[in-house]
Amino acid sequence: MSEIGILVLHGPNLNLLGMREPGIYGSTTLAQIDDSLKLQAGKLQVDIECKQSNHEGTLVDAIHNARGVRSGILINAGAYTHTSVAIRDALSGVQMPTVEVHLSNIYTREEFRHHSYIAPVAIGQISGFGADSYYLGLQALVNYLRK
Ligand code: DQA
Repeated sequence: MSEIGILVLHGPNLNLLGMREPGIYGSTTLAQIDDSLKLQAGKLQVDIECKQSNHEGTLVDAIHNARGVRSGILINAGAYTHTSVAIRDALSGVQMPTVEVHLSNIYTREEFRHHSYIAPVAIGQISGFGADSYYLGLQALVNYLRK
Protein backbone atom coordinates (compact mmCIF):
# COMPACT_ATOMS: atom_id res chain seq x y z
CA MET A 1 0.00 0.00 0.00
CA SER A 2 1.29 3.46 -0.99
CA GLU A 3 1.41 6.37 1.41
CA ILE A 4 -0.40 8.50 -1.21
CA GLY A 5 -4.12 7.79 -1.53
CA ILE A 6 -6.37 9.62 -3.96
CA LEU A 7 -10.15 9.86 -3.98
CA VAL A 8 -11.56 10.12 -7.52
CA LEU A 9 -15.07 11.59 -7.51
CA HIS A 10 -17.44 11.63 -10.48
CA GLY A 11 -20.60 13.70 -10.25
CA PRO A 12 -24.04 13.47 -11.84
CA ASN A 13 -24.71 11.82 -15.20
CA LEU A 14 -21.13 10.64 -15.57
CA ASN A 15 -22.42 7.07 -15.06
CA LEU A 16 -23.92 7.50 -18.55
CA LEU A 17 -20.54 8.08 -20.23
CA GLY A 18 -20.17 6.08 -23.42
CA MET A 19 -23.75 6.65 -24.52
CA ARG A 20 -24.26 10.24 -23.27
CA GLU A 21 -23.71 12.86 -26.00
CA PRO A 22 -20.64 11.03 -27.40
CA GLY A 23 -19.89 13.98 -29.71
CA ILE A 24 -19.13 16.01 -26.58
CA TYR A 25 -18.02 13.44 -24.01
CA GLY A 26 -16.55 10.67 -26.19
CA SER A 27 -17.35 6.97 -26.29
CA THR A 28 -15.25 5.83 -23.33
CA THR A 29 -17.37 4.48 -20.46
CA LEU A 30 -16.89 5.45 -16.82
CA ALA A 31 -15.80 1.89 -16.01
CA GLN A 32 -13.09 2.15 -18.70
CA ILE A 33 -11.92 5.50 -17.28
CA ASP A 34 -11.77 4.04 -13.76
CA ASP A 35 -9.87 0.95 -14.99
CA SER A 36 -7.33 3.15 -16.81
CA LEU A 37 -6.97 5.40 -13.76
CA LYS A 38 -6.29 2.34 -11.59
CA LEU A 39 -3.63 1.14 -14.06
CA GLN A 40 -2.04 4.60 -14.08
CA ALA A 41 -2.20 4.75 -10.27
CA GLY A 42 -0.37 1.42 -10.11
CA LYS A 43 2.41 2.81 -12.32
CA LEU A 44 2.59 5.99 -10.19
CA GLN A 45 2.58 3.79 -7.06
CA VAL A 46 -0.40 5.50 -5.45
CA ASP A 47 -3.69 4.08 -4.20
CA ILE A 48 -6.96 5.31 -5.69
CA GLU A 49 -10.61 4.84 -4.90
CA CYS A 50 -13.20 5.85 -7.53
CA LYS A 51 -16.78 6.84 -6.69
CA GLN A 52 -19.67 8.21 -8.75
CA SER A 53 -22.87 9.74 -7.44
CA ASN A 54 -25.79 11.64 -8.89
CA HIS A 55 -26.51 13.16 -5.45
CA GLU A 56 -24.95 16.32 -4.11
CA GLY A 57 -25.10 15.25 -0.44
CA THR A 58 -23.47 11.90 -1.22
CA LEU A 59 -20.58 13.74 -2.91
CA VAL A 60 -20.29 16.06 0.12
CA ASP A 61 -20.22 13.01 2.45
CA ALA A 62 -17.54 11.34 0.32
CA ILE A 63 -15.38 14.49 0.55
CA HIS A 64 -15.82 14.61 4.34
CA ASN A 65 -15.00 10.91 4.68
CA ALA A 66 -11.75 11.38 2.74
CA ARG A 67 -10.42 13.72 5.43
CA GLY A 68 -7.51 12.13 7.28
CA VAL A 69 -7.82 9.00 5.09
CA ARG A 70 -6.79 10.22 1.61
CA SER A 71 -4.08 12.64 0.50
CA GLY A 72 -5.90 14.39 -2.35
CA ILE A 73 -9.05 14.54 -4.46
CA LEU A 74 -9.51 14.36 -8.24
CA ILE A 75 -13.03 15.55 -9.05
CA ASN A 76 -15.28 15.92 -12.04
CA ALA A 77 -18.35 17.36 -10.34
CA GLY A 78 -20.32 17.41 -13.63
CA ALA A 79 -23.13 19.97 -13.57
CA TYR A 80 -22.59 20.57 -9.82
CA THR A 81 -19.40 22.37 -10.87
CA HIS A 82 -21.59 25.26 -11.96
CA THR A 83 -24.17 25.18 -9.14
CA SER A 84 -22.87 23.68 -5.91
CA VAL A 85 -21.67 25.94 -3.13
CA ALA A 86 -22.04 22.86 -0.87
CA ILE A 87 -19.41 20.85 -2.77
CA ARG A 88 -17.08 23.84 -2.89
CA ASP A 89 -17.50 24.38 0.87
CA ALA A 90 -16.86 20.68 1.53
CA LEU A 91 -13.61 20.87 -0.45
CA SER A 92 -12.44 24.02 1.30
CA GLY A 93 -13.61 22.57 4.63
CA VAL A 94 -11.46 19.43 4.44
CA GLN A 95 -8.51 21.44 3.06
CA MET A 96 -7.28 18.61 0.84
CA PRO A 97 -5.34 19.25 -2.38
CA THR A 98 -7.90 18.97 -5.18
CA VAL A 99 -7.64 18.87 -8.96
CA GLU A 100 -10.77 19.66 -10.98
CA VAL A 101 -11.22 17.90 -14.32
CA HIS A 102 -13.70 18.05 -17.19
CA LEU A 103 -13.91 15.91 -20.30
CA SER A 104 -15.20 18.80 -22.41
CA ASN A 105 -13.74 22.30 -22.59
CA ILE A 106 -16.29 24.08 -20.41
CA TYR A 107 -15.15 27.49 -21.73
CA THR A 108 -16.07 26.78 -25.35
CA ARG A 109 -19.60 25.66 -24.41
CA GLU A 110 -22.72 27.42 -23.07
CA GLU A 111 -22.05 30.45 -20.91
CA PHE A 112 -23.56 28.81 -17.79
CA ARG A 113 -20.69 26.29 -17.91
CA HIS A 114 -17.99 28.98 -17.86
CA HIS A 115 -18.21 29.50 -14.11
CA SER A 116 -16.88 26.88 -11.70
CA TYR A 117 -17.56 27.09 -7.97
CA ILE A 118 -14.79 24.55 -7.47
CA ALA A 119 -11.94 26.24 -9.37
CA PRO A 120 -11.11 28.77 -6.61
CA VAL A 121 -10.62 25.99 -4.03
CA ALA A 122 -8.71 23.63 -6.37
CA ILE A 123 -4.97 23.59 -7.06
CA GLY A 124 -5.83 23.66 -10.76
CA GLN A 125 -8.24 22.60 -13.46
CA ILE A 126 -7.88 20.44 -16.59
CA SER A 127 -10.66 20.81 -19.11
CA GLY A 128 -11.20 19.67 -22.67
CA PHE A 129 -9.01 16.60 -23.20
CA GLY A 130 -11.73 13.93 -22.99
CA ALA A 131 -10.80 10.98 -20.79
CA ASP A 132 -7.19 12.22 -20.89
CA SER A 133 -8.28 15.09 -18.58
CA TYR A 134 -8.56 12.50 -15.78
CA TYR A 135 -5.14 10.94 -16.51
CA LEU A 136 -3.47 14.36 -16.77
CA GLY A 137 -5.25 15.42 -13.58
CA LEU A 138 -4.08 12.35 -11.66
CA GLN A 139 -0.49 12.91 -12.79
CA ALA A 140 -0.67 16.60 -11.80
CA LEU A 141 -2.14 15.80 -8.37
CA VAL A 142 0.49 13.14 -7.63
CA ASN A 143 3.29 15.48 -8.74
CA TYR A 144 1.89 18.16 -6.43
CA LEU A 145 1.62 15.77 -3.48
CA ARG A 146 5.20 14.54 -3.98
CA LYS A 147 6.67 18.06 -4.01
C1 DQA B 1 -18.52 18.06 -17.49
C2 DQA B 1 -18.96 19.45 -17.97
C3 DQA B 1 -20.22 19.90 -17.23
O1 DQA B 1 -20.61 21.19 -17.71
C4 DQA B 1 -21.34 18.94 -17.47
O2 DQA B 1 -22.49 19.31 -16.73
C5 DQA B 1 -20.97 17.52 -17.18
C6 DQA B 1 -19.65 17.05 -17.59
C7 DQA B 1 -17.33 17.52 -18.31
O3 DQA B 1 -16.70 16.58 -17.85
O4 DQA B 1 -17.08 18.00 -19.41
O5 DQA B 1 -21.76 16.73 -16.67
O6 DQA B 1 -18.09 18.17 -16.14
